Parts: sequence; structure tokens; C-alpha cells
Amino acid sequence: MRGGAGQRGPGRPGHRTGLCQSGAMDVRLLRPEEAPAVAATLRHRIVVADRLERQRRDECLYLVAWEGGTPVGQVLLHRRRPSALAVAGVVDLLPYIEDVFVLPEWRNRGIGTALLEAAESAAAARGDRGVSLAVSTGNAAARRLYTRRGYVDAGVPEHRHASTEPGFDDEGRSGNGTVVDLVKRLDAVTAAAWPTAREGDRPRDAR
Ligand SMILES: CC(C)(COP(=O)(O)OP(=O)(O)OC[C@H]1O[C@@H](n2cnc3c(N)ncnc32)[C@H](O)[C@@H]1OP(=O)(O)O)[C@@H](O)C(=O)NCCC(=O)NCCS
Repeated sequence: MRGGAGQRGPGRPGHRTGLCQSGAMDVRLLRPEEAPAVAATLRHRIVVADRLERQRRDECLYLVAWEGGTPVGQVLLHRRRPSALAVAGVVDLLPYIEDVFVLPEWRNRGIGTALLEAAESAAAARGDRGVSLAVSTGNAAARRLYTRRGYVDAGVPEHRHASTEPGFDDEGRSGNGTVVDLVKRLDAVTAAAWPTAREGDRPRDAR
């Protein structure tokens, strides 16, 4: 179910708190108490609960962009590419970025960029040298975003998209279902002092 964010009259987000901030916009790890708000706007509650549980097990980070008290975007950073999505080769050893999504009424204001920046910084903070993701071959807007942020073709043959998540209905994705894998080296990415899911909000040193 969706709704809410657009009624607040989106403007240019500003940065305020958290790893990635822009005026009033804030990207941070989802906390359990925030799950209902995210389930009301971004993803089904079953998906949100599953992601929180996987985050608790330190398998992924669920990063949400907030504008005021409203969740307006999200990205899931898997510590490693889920085995069900394996494509063979070194790409499988990299952290995997999934479900980059911004509510339609909040797009074209830099939120998608901020979400990627946060995911990349979090991976760099753990010492990862690169990240990977898969984008639909028909999703020109997303492809432009990734190219702008330095993602390049991983050299893996195009394949059908898959998701490992319960109740994930592909809502919000655009494209034709065939994806290409992209990778980005993180050498130049600044590692953020980033809390792990288990440490809560306590800052930790970047590696
Ligand atoms: C892809 C997606 C996440 C991008 O999110 P976004 O918040 O619109 O991304 P950004 O705002 O950072 O960048 C989008 C555009 O806005 C522009 N932009 C960013 N800040 C801006 C600002 N302040 N003023 C004007 N334009 C701005 C960017 O330059 C970019 O331009 P482009 O379309 O020419 O490339 C979003 O379109 C989305 O959720 N799509 C559906 C889900 C999806 O396809 N996800 C990808 C799955 S792989």
C-alpha cells in the first residue's frame, strides 16, 4: 500500500541527520519502531519485517530515506549477493544492492543518488572494494543514475530478474524483466562511520 508522502508537497530535500543528509532529507538504517510507517508507504509489511529480520542477522542493511517523518525512498544492501541470485564469478562475492526505489512524487530531487551514496559508503565502511546490482535493460532512468555514479557493465550475460523476498510483487520497478549486472569499485568512495544493525545507532570506525 502506498500514499502519504506526496500530500506533503515535495520540494527540494535538504540534509539534516544520518549518514546521508540533504536539508530535511535523511537516509538511515530502518529501526523496528519505524517499520509501520515504511509498510504504509514503501513496501508490504511482510517484506519490511523480513528485511528487518535479515538486518538483525547482519545479512543486509535496509536503508530508508525520510523527508520529515515520511519514508520516501529505500535501498537494500545485501552483505553478499544472495545465492539464489548468483551469476557466477567474482560479482557474486560483492555486496549486492537491491530495490532502489523512490516514491514517484519524490523523484528527480537527488534522493535516489543519496540512497546509493549511503549504500556505497556503508559497504566501503566494512572494507568492501566494490558493489554490484542488476538493472532492467529497459530502465533508462535507473541506468542513467547508475552510470552517473560510476557503475559499469559487469560482463555477465543478461538474464531474467529474480527476487528472494516473500510477497515481493515487483511493484515500482520499471523495465522488461531482463537485467544486466553492473559493478562499481569503491576505491574512491568515502567510508562512512556506519552502525551495524546489531550496534544500533552507535557509530563505529570505518575500516
Ligand atoms: C531510479 C530511481 C530510484 C531514481 O530515483 P530519483 O530520486 O529520481 O534519483 P535522482 O533524483 O538522484 O536522479 C534522477 C534525476 O533527477 C536529477 N536530479 C537530481 N537532483 C535534482 C535536482 N535537485 N533538481 C533537478 N534534477 C535533479 C538527476 O540528475 C537525474 O536526472 P536524469 O534523469 O537526467 O538522469 C527512481 O526513478 C525509481 O524509484 N524508479 C522506480 C524503481 C526503479 O526503477 N528502481 C531501479 C531498480 S534497478
